[in-house]
Amino acid sequence: MAKVTVVGAGNVGATCANVLAFNKIADEVVMLDVKEGVAEGKAMDMMQTANTLAFETSIVGVTNDYSKTANSEVVIITSGIPRKPGMTREELIGVNATIVKSVAESCLKFSPNAIIIVISNPMDTMTYLTLKSTGLPKNRIIGMGGTLDSSRFKYYLSQAMNANPSQIEGMVIGGHGDTTMIPLKRMATCAGVAVSEILDAEKLNKVVADTMVGGATLTGLLGTSAWYAPGAAGAYVAESIIRDYKRVIPCCVALEGEYGQNDICIGVPAVIGRNGVEKIIEIKLDAEEKALFAKSAEAVRKTNDVLKEIKAL
Ligand code: 2OP
Repeated sequence: MAKVTVVGAGNVGATCANVLAFNKIADEVVMLDVKEGVAEGKAMDMMQTANTLAFETSIVGVTNDYSKTANSEVVIITSGIPRKPGMTREELIGVNATIVKSVAESCLKFSPNAIIIVISNPMDTMTYLTLKSTGLPKNRIIGMGGTLDSSRFKYYLSQAMNANPSQIEGMVIGGHGDTTMIPLKRMATCAGVAVSEILDAEKLNKVVADTMVGGATLTGLLGTSAWYAPGAAGAYVAESIIRDYKRVIPCCVALEGEYGQNDICIGVPAVIGRNGVEKIIEIKLDAEEKALFAKSAEAVRKTNDVLKEIKAL
């Protein structure tokens, strides 16, 4: 019986819960929010689709009652404020650090063995904060950023090539920020063929640029952060844990020497299974990619440093 807690019943949390139920990933989903009635209302609304959509997952909504989240296998943290048009993810750190830290602590009181997936922004820094403040082993903390960024990369590739999205492979590593993410264009493929053989350099560079500001583009259109792809990305990581699929997923994990980095959580491909982060895959980067990764890590580290300034760590 897989039980998953989703903290935050806003757009991202509710979408994530919905995907977990609709795709029959979890048997029980508890959605928790601080706003009276919101999680309860959304859970009831979703449960009223159970018959139509033919799923058996039970979705429960609660206001701040962490005891209801007890014995969750996976906890997904989406809490905090989303960005508004023109804002960077990094600007959310002050408000979200306090929230994420206390949410992780409260969840662990009732689910001491849970694996935690962090979605809240700035995602790399919130993942690092969760790792440091809980003291959990590094395999149990996963930030979902690269999963989402890779799905946006594949979307833009499929649009540029007018190709079937399911035949596209591509990966985004580095930080989950407009200037820190690194879509690995050299390694992307369509039906096994390198995309660089299908798209000219100009088109491919546009795909990369569009991917990097993919979240900001949506924030501009929607007036708030996106939710369908972020929520689905969280559920995708949870599924690989619950079903022990051992998918290789680009996600934000703690590095201890891999990619020449230490004391940081940042996006790299990792095997995700029953034990959370089961292996970090060290792919061979070329000189340009290495330089971009080092620059990205430096920027993520700068945001992490703010945690000390605001006394969150
Ligand atoms: C995004 O990129 C919410 O950070 C998330 O849409």
